[in-house]
Amino acid sequence: MYKSKITGVGHYVPDRIITNEYLSTIMDTNDAWIVERTGIQERRWFTPGKDTLASMSVNASKIALERAGLTNKDIDFIVFATITPDYFLPGEGVLLQRELGMQGIGALDIRNACSGFIYALSIADQFIKTGMYKNILVVGGEIQSSALDKSDEGRSSAVIFADGAGAVVLSRTNSEKSGILSTHLHADGDHAEELYCSSPSSCQEVRISTEMIDRGDFFLKMNGNAVFKHAVVRFSEVINEALEANGKSKEDIDLLVPHQANLRISNYIQHKLGLPDEKVFNNIMYYGNTTAGTIPIALSEAFEQGKLKEGDLVCLAAFGSGFTWASALLNW
Ligand code: ACO
Repeated sequence: MYKSKITGVGHYVPDRIITNEYLSTIMDTNDAWIVERTGIQERRWFTPGKDTLASMSVNASKIALERAGLTNKDIDFIVFATITPDYFLPGEGVLLQRELGMQGIGALDIRNACSGFIYALSIADQFIKTGMYKNILVVGGEIQSSALDKSDEGRSSAVIFADGAGAVVLSRTNSEKSGILSTHLHADGDHAEELYCSSPSSCQEVRISTEMIDRGDFFLKMNGNAVFKHAVVRFSEVINEALEANGKSKEDIDLLVPHQANLRISNYIQHKLGLPDEKVFNNIMYYGNTTAGTIPIALSEAFEQGKLKEGDLVCLAAFGSGFTWASALLNW
């Protein structure tokens, strides 16, 4: 059986900075509430007519490819995690593939929200382990600002979600020091409606109607308290599962990169595990919650800041809509 390792990582966030002060001019909110409840100081929103999810992920992927020392010709497969594709169909992977000039290789979309990137990484890892592919582009990204209810009614989620994309190249490796050790995937559909968006929907007479628009069915709905309660339990469980599966303990972790759901959730997990600040990477303060984008964006920034050294034990963990939750343990 073969082994995979991350050989390149990149990210792109739109240049439009949305501060808490700006949000307080369009909805009933304020900087103190947002910072205290979420840790977010600012986030990025795309510019219509300039950014698309495809264009943002092309930028992230080009950086990842360059850092991996590879070109578009070397990539065998694309796995793209997103819940906000540019089109209802086809999927985002084929749009990215077209822009990168990789026509002909397979492209797969994953719709597992905040856990989507780890699901995508796990799938790519399996393809490399079996020997089917050598280099896979794994991408996570979203444009969510267009699906947020920016009225007072939607304020508890409108202040959290944001736009951005990250990408990694996963490659076959012989390295003894580096590589993915294991991935762990879970879901519990009993909670599907705690964090969801009901339209456009195929199980209605028409996918889009003025009634749906008037009811705000196109906006994301979140039961924030339920999400918080389940997230803190599942994050801890799935991190421990990854450690136990590899005979490691929490003291062995060099860097925990949690999905950037909410700084309070990250801090809660950090304290439960007893990890010092320097072993947990957070950037939600500047980028908000970019759902499938948070982990590859965070990995890319951690790499740029010199926080990832060869052989470091890195734990990725996520929780999100579904509910779904997942982890990956790897040596950088
Ligand atoms: N600005 C000001 N006030 C607000 C805002 C806002 N943006 N949003 C809600 N409020 C008000 C509410 O109306 C309420 O007012 P009231 O007491 O007069 O009725 C008050 O603040 C408290 O509302 P709650 O919803 O109970 O606020 P809570 O403290 O639970 O915080 C939050 C809401 C931040 C969403 C919290 O539930 C939370 O952290 N949940 C976790 C969900 C999360 O992080 N999701 C991330 C995305 S999902 C994921 O990635 C897994």
